[in-house]
Order: sequence, then C-alpha cells, then structure tokens
Amino acid sequence: MLIILAAVVAVLLSLPWWLPARVVALRVRVFNRVNGNEGIPVPGPLIGVDRFREVYSHPAAGGRSEGAALSDLFWYWLAPGPEMHQEHLEAGERYDAVARTTRALLAMPRAEAEDLTRRCVARTMGETRGLVRLRDLMMPLWAEFYYELVFAEPCPREARDLIAGNANDVVTALKCCGLRHMERRHRLTRHLLGRLSRVRVPLPPGLSPREQAYYLQGAFFNTAVVQMSEAMAHLLMVLAQHPGVQDDARTADDRHLDRVIAETMRLYPLFGVAHRITTGDIPLDEHTTIPAGSVLCFDYPAFHRSGFSDPDRFDPGRFERPAKDLNHIPFGIAANRPCPAWRLAPITMRVAAREILTRYDLRSSAAHTRSMPNRGPCLLIPRGATARVLLYTRAALLYMRARDRWEDVWRSLVQLVLGSYMVWDARRQRLCAHHFDH
Ligand code: HEM
Repeated sequence: MLIILAAVVAVLLSLPWWLPARVVALRVRVFNRVNGNEGIPVPGPLIGVDRFREVYSHPAAGGRSEGAALSDLFWYWLAPGPEMHQEHLEAGERYDAVARTTRALLAMPRAEAEDLTRRCVARTMGETRGLVRLRDLMMPLWAEFYYELVFAEPCPREARDLIAGNANDVVTALKCCGLRHMERRHRLTRHLLGRLSRVRVPLPPGLSPREQAYYLQGAFFNTAVVQMSEAMAHLLMVLAQHPGVQDDARTADDRHLDRVIAETMRLYPLFGVAHRITTGDIPLDEHTTIPAGSVLCFDYPAFHRSGFSDPDRFDPGRFERPAKDLNHIPFGIAANRPCPAWRLAPITMRVAAREILTRYDLRSSAAHTRSMPNRGPCLLIPRGATARVLLYTRAALLYMRARDRWEDVWRSLVQLVLGSYMVWDARRQRLCAHHFDH
C-alpha cells in the first residue's frame, strides 16, 4: 500500500517534467487532424534553406488568404473584420490603399517616436514593482503609443483599458490559453467607429466606415499592440535571464542594443509560420514545379536556426556581421509584403528598454519559449535596492520557478481543450472560405 502511495506521489510530483510536452504533441496532432496537413514546409524536403529567400520573394508566392484551410483559423482568431486586416487582404486596389495609409501613419519622425515612447513608459509603469508578467505590463504602454500615433492625442484611461483588453484577448485566443470575447472586440469596433473623423491621416478611400474601423482595429489595435508587447516581453525576458547582457545594455551604445534586439528576434521570432498561397506555378528545376494554388508555410524559427553555429546560444556578437548576410528575417522579406513597422518598431523598442533599465533590475527564473504562453514572469527590482530586498529576490525567484512549472501542467491541458474547440469552431464557421464564396 505504502509503495503504491509513494509511486502515485512520485508520478504526481514529476508531472511538470513530462506531461506538458506530451499534451502539446497531442494538441498538434488534433490540429493536423481537424485542419488537414495542407502546407509545403519551407525549409523542407522540397525547398531547402538555400532557396528560402528566393521562393518567399517569388512574385507567384503572393496569395494571402483565399484557398488555404489555415486561413479560416487565422480569420477566426482575428475577427471581427478579418477581411479588412491588412495582413489578409489579397493584392489589389484595396490592399494598396490600406497599405498606403498604414505607411503614412507609421512614418512618424524618429525623435517624435522616441519622445512618445518615453512618455508612454512614464505614464504606464508608474510605481510598478515586484512580480509581473511582462506581456501584460507592456500592453497598456503600446495601447497608449498606438492610440496617440493614430489620433494625435493622449489616450484616455478607458480607451487604454479597452485596447489592452482587446489585444490581450486576441493573443490569448491565438495561443489557445483562453476563448475569444466577442462583445469586448465589438466594443472596440464601436469606439473606433465613433473616432474615425479624428484619425490624423486620410483613411483609405472606398471603404465603408465599418470597414475603416476594422482596418484600424486589425492593424493598429490588434497587430501593433500584440506584436510590440510580445517583442518587448521577449527582449526583457532575455535581459532578465542574462544579467551580464543587461548590465552592458544599460551603458552600451545603440548599435550594441540593436544587436541584442536582433539576436532576441532571431531566437524568438514573433512569427512561427507565415503562409502564402501560390498564384502561379513556381518552377524549382527542370523536373519539379510548385503548382498554382499550393500553400507554402515559411518556418521562421527553422530559418533563423540554420547557418548559425550553436544556434540555441544567445549571442548578440553574431550581428557584428551585416544582418542582411544572415538567415534573419524578423520583419519578413522585403519583396513580399514585409512588416510596415520594420523601421519604427526597433527604434521604439530600444527607447522603451532603456527607460525600463534605468528604473529596474530585471530577474526571471521562468521558462522562456518562443510562444511564451506564461506571458513572461519577471521580477522588477527598483534600481539601488537594499540587501533585504535582494534576499527577497532569491526567495521570489525560487517561488517563480516552481509556480511556472506547475502552471505549465495546467496550461497545457487548457490549451489542449480550448485549442481543439477553437480549431473545430473555426472549421465550422469557415469565415475565409465563405467570404470568397460570396
Ligand atoms: C517587433 C515588432 C514586430 C515584428 C517582429 C513584426 C513582424 C512581422 C512580420 C514577420 C510580418 C510579415 C509576415 C509575412 O510575411 O506574412 C509582418 C507583417 C505585418 N505587420 Fe508586423 N511586426 C511587428 C510590429 C508591427 C507593428 C507595430 C505594426 C503596426 C501597424 C505591424 C503591422 C504589420 C502588418 C499590417 C503586416 C502585414 C503587411 C502586409 O501584408 O502588407 N507590425 N510583421
């Protein structure tokens, strides 16, 4: 009896070391079962790393949504208005008008962007200290930043909460850690509909007011806030786990900080896979052609690992060589709809990181993975803390590590159940397929 009890206790205590990985593998199997395994992986057996850039840049690798079952899932997570999300619009007049407006809004002069970032850090960090989740900490900051970038006026508190709540809802659903809350998403659409006349550049012509609100919501209040919060959470996690790099970053010049950001985005690219639907044939050699209508799945983490020695090691020194010679595309490929925030995002990340490092020492003992479902647990210690606080730090880090491991067990089960449900629900709703059928 005692032996059985001891065995049960041992199995229970060992759960964090083996259960999450098995549950994640099961979730991937369920996804593939429901969604089908339609894509051609790049790099993969057909297209190697050496031809990754060439195929991604091919003019026929341009379809965004129509014709891929995978699109139904993305449209579901981004709803409402996924058909107006810049990332998912097919090439054409409407796409050009939307992309022009995005570029105009993001063309903020560098000094103005730096100043706005500083003000947003000061307004949103306040007296924050102790144990935080970095992604949650960053959301209000970028909600304020992008509100002011779009409307040229400071973001009221209720709008900040609505935008951050909405962005959090989107990314939480995307990671299968929670279901969507459509009423909150509709509330943000209504808020934006009421403010269309206040946007500081002309909105894309030929769109209804609702379509204009969906466009703003998709590009600036989902994508921008989510991507900036995730990118900053990764950067701060890296700094928290590499105290030497953190100390250097406090005093180093911009070039050094840029290398730290580049290496962070190499190891933790925000995109796992970007997919394209081919609009024409792509010949690979005299025997092999990728036919029109194929789904190409460009795997960022695999590309970012190839061609680097010891690729799992964090080493900003890799970027002493020009980044264009390396397998490094954190903002996509210039020839095929790259990120329009390519210039602005690193400028603002650098300033936000410096502002935070002047206020705090960062420490984290939690797991740091690319999808970061734990939202980046971290300890913010005000600079110049006393010995008593440093003792508390050690205890807090032990607690953080144990909590993170056990949360992982529970979260993996939640992701399995909610993820399976959402994949099934997206398949049922078929938002993308229905849009193109009509
Ligand atoms: C560090 C932060 C960010 C990273 C790493 C990032 C990364 C990317 C990547 C890799 C793509 C291209 C994916 C593909 O080829 O399909 C992309 C596209 C896009 N990003 Fe970002 N992004 C970031 C921030 C932002 C921000 C702040 C905005 C603000 C509007 C934004 C808006 C977009 C849009 C609209 C697209 C679609 C472009 C198109 O299809 O024309 N991103 N992003």
